[in-house]
Amino acid sequence: MSIALASDHAGFELKKGIISFLLKKRIEHKDFGCRQGEEVDYVDYAEDAIKAILSGECDRAILVCGTGVGMAIVANKHKGIRATPCCDEYVAEMSRQHNDSNCLTLGGRVLPLDEALHIVSIWLETEFDGGRHQRRIDKIFKIEEKNFKSF
Ligand code: RB5
Repeated sequence: MSIALASDHAGFELKKGIISFLLKKRIEHKDFGCRQGEEVDYVDYAEDAIKAILSGECDRAILVCGTGVGMAIVANKHKGIRATPCCDEYVAEMSRQHNDSNCLTLGGRVLPLDEALHIVSIWLETEFDGGRHQRRIDKIFKIEEKNFKSF
């Protein structure tokens, strides 16, 4: 599995911790910035990472801003993206089992590194349950077909 990563300045330190974790676990990843923690607009960085999923370059994304909210809003403007802001392990697990989340968003200003890494770990390991949840995802696809132009 290959993970696209991005953050703004508020998520920069947490993203660095996540990158170290992915390196240790030998999980393939690509960082789409920001590069130095300089003040930037989360919108631009979310979009670059999401494009990597839509093009097939990466399988999933982890996006970090101050709260995880702005990143989720931008990511969910893209067809086929199910971005889920996760603030604890239970939500992270459910976001995979029930929602087939392909984009985890986290808040660098609200989560300490150790908690964030537990969330990342569960989100990476948990499989989608399918079944009745696939039926619901299919309904989301239909809403996308109605409202989104193709990428
Ligand atoms: C940046 O100050 C902050 O607004 C941003 O990181 C994010 O939390 C937005 O949702």
